Amino acid sequence: QQWFAHSQDLAGKSVLVTAGGTVERLDPVRFLTNDSSGKMGFALAEAAANRGADVTLVAARTTSEPIQGVNVVRVESAEQMLQAVLERYDTADLVIKAAAVADYRPAVRANSKIKKSEEKLVLELERTTDILKTLGERKKHQFLVGFAAETEQIERYAMDKLTRKRCDLVVANDVSQEGAGFNVDTNIVHIYGEEGLVEALPMLQKREVADRLLGVIVNRMKAKTA
Ligand code: CTP
Ligand code: CA
Repeated sequence: QQWFAHSQDLAGKSVLVTAGGTVERLDPVRFLTNDSSGKMGFALAEAAANRGADVTLVAARTTSEPIQGVNVVRVESAEQMLQAVLERYDTADLVIKAAAVADYRPAVRANSKIKKSEEKLVLELERTTDILKTLGERKKHQFLVGFAAETEQIERYAMDKLTRKRCDLVVANDVSQEGAGFNVDTNIVHIYGEEGLVEALPMLQKREVADRLLGVIVNRMKAKTA
C-alpha cells in the first residue's frame, strides 16, 4: 500500500501513543487481557512519524509489527503503562491513548502457579488506575486524545469521557458494528470535541483513519497555540 508523503505538519512535535491490550497477571503462567490488536495505535504512530513527529509508542499486547522510525516501549500491565506514560508526559506535545487498558486486575498476583483445588474458584478483581484520567488531571500544554469503545449511546458516553478525563478530543468507535474496533483492519469512528461531534468518518482502513484524525488534531493544536 502506498501512502502519500505528507506535509511535515508535526515536525518538531513530540507524540506519545499507547496501543494494544494490557495484560494483567494472575500467576506466572496466566493472565487477563482483551481482544485489542493494537492496530489503531500502531497506525497512528506510523502516521504521526510520517508527518515528521518524534514518536514514542507505548505498546502492550499486540499482533502488530514494529514500525520503522518509531521508538517502541513494551509494557505489560496497566500499571506499567501508567509509569511509562507518566515518565514521558512532561515533554510530550500530543498524547493519543489508543490502548485498551484493563479496567480491573486480579487483586492478588500469585508468585507460583495456582494449583487446582475446589470445584469453584472465585477471582477477586480490583480497579486499575485510569491512565487517561490521570493525564487529564495533570494536563498543562499537552493536547490529549482519548478513545472510547462503546456498544450503545456512543455520543453520550464519548462526551462523558471527554469531560471526565479532560480530553481535547475523544475518538469513539462503535465496537458492535462490523468493520469497527477490535482486531480488524478497518474502523468507523466519530470524533468528538468540547462542542460535540467534530467529524463522523466512514468505514476506512485504520491507517486512513489515523491520517484523517491527525489532520483534525493538527488543526486544533494550531488553533490552540495561535
Ligand atoms: N483508559 C485508561 N486507563 C484505564 C482505562 C481506560 O487510560 N484504566 C483510557 C483508554 O485508553 C481510552 C479511554 O480511557 O483512551 C476510554 O476507555 P474506555 O474503556 O472506552 O472507557 P472507560 O473509562 O474505561 O469506561 P468503560 O470501560 O466503563 O466504558
Ligand atoms: Ca474500559
